[in-house]
Amino acid sequence: MSDAVTLGTPLTLGTPLSPAGVKVMLLGSGELGKEVVIELQRLGVETIAVDRYANAPAQQVAHRAHVIDMTDAAALRALVEAERPHFIVPEIEALATAELLEIEKAGLATVIPTARAAHITMNRERIRRLAAEELGLPTSPYAFASSLEELQAHAARIGYPCFVKPVMSSSGKGQSRLTAPEDVATAWAKALEAGRVRETRVIVEGEVAFDFEITQLTVRSVDGTHYCEPIGHVQKDGDYVESWQPKPMSDAARTRAREMAGAVTGALGGRGIFGVELFVKGDEVWFSEVSPRPHDTGLVTLVSQYQSEFALHARAILGLPVTCDMCAPGASAVIYGGVDAGPLQFDGVGEALAEPGTELRLFGKPQSYVKRRMGVALARGSDTVEARARAARAAEAVKPRPL
Ligand SMILES: Nc1ncnc2c1ncn2[C@@H]1O[C@H](COP(=O)(O)OP(=O)(O)OP(=O)(O)O)[C@@H](O)[C@H]1O
Ligand SMILES: [Mg+2]
Repeated sequence: MSDAVTLGTPLTLGTPLSPAGVKVMLLGSGELGKEVVIELQRLGVETIAVDRYANAPAQQVAHRAHVIDMTDAAALRALVEAERPHFIVPEIEALATAELLEIEKAGLATVIPTARAAHITMNRERIRRLAAEELGLPTSPYAFASSLEELQAHAARIGYPCFVKPVMSSSGKGQSRLTAPEDVATAWAKALEAGRVRETRVIVEGEVAFDFEITQLTVRSVDGTHYCEPIGHVQKDGDYVESWQPKPMSDAARTRAREMAGAVTGALGGRGIFGVELFVKGDEVWFSEVSPRPHDTGLVTLVSQYQSEFALHARAILGLPVTCDMCAPGASAVIYGGVDAGPLQFDGVGEALAEPGTELRLFGKPQSYVKRRMGVALARGSDTVEARARAARAAEAVKPRPL
């Protein structure tokens, strides 16, 4: 079957808050979801934003908001039955994905991109086995362990440095980089503590000595699969601090990145945007992981593409045509809370925005932590060197402080 057939036909858009509307329910309402909701709102879609706490960023711009434990299958089912959205759009990994499979099977709603994709990607074991063992994509050497003894044996075989990660976790939580056998016990304890669900299973991965890493944003839309220009990024403690587009790479690596992204997103199926995380060394490319949703490093596309990753997601969900064309080289730089505190105030916003080509997003999160992402500075430039310098200066100019 061609993509055009499997991806379906466009919907009839209508009027929100009426029977003639298309309804989208977001599961997870962070800063990425907020931009998705804004794009949907622009097309007259009725939006429902769900999170585990009140006044989450996307809830502040949606038609309705709900606060539930989204890992609770019964609570999730009850909310879907009450709201009857046409589409369910996962924005985070930590969801009752087995229940999403049931909801989709019962024909209650279409899960974006598919319930199976959400189910597979929330667990590092499932997605790694799919990518490496079924699709044959190159990855780091890896093994899974359910006890300290097993982990010690696998780490010894794979060698050092290596990474240990809970199979269910994101944003670097519970992750360690090990350089010697003495590190194994600490890494095991850290992974158990941070595992999202009471999950005593970890992946151990050999370190890939890459030149750089990229996010290959890939859109499955009604007219097939589209690839954005590669996004370069810098990670610190499992979180991205800076990203830019385009990231130059060899022709061979660029082609390989697209082939690999096409394979993994094709296997996951459905419609929507995917963030495919890849490691690159010369012409060689390794698959790391994939988000079946907008990717945080893709915030840069708010200034670098005509259709940001959020606009692309909204259009793909609704069965509309997309283009991944860039409008300018761009960069993003993260603004952290810097303090553990309630509502923040931001000094220096005018100074940050005084520089040409610069934009800001302040997410409106009601609570700040030292390492919580509270905003992002975005900048265009004549090249990515200029864009990165501008974004960094703008982020630096913004000074969060407690009320
Ligand atoms: N096997 C590896 N070899 C080299 N670097 C690695 C490896 N695994 C992880 N890293 C580094 O750690 C970062 C975070 O790893 P990974 O993406 O697996 O974690 P995560 O918790 O899913 O993070 P996020 O949710 O932010 O994507 C990677 O972007 C990379 O910089
Ligand atoms: Mg990652």
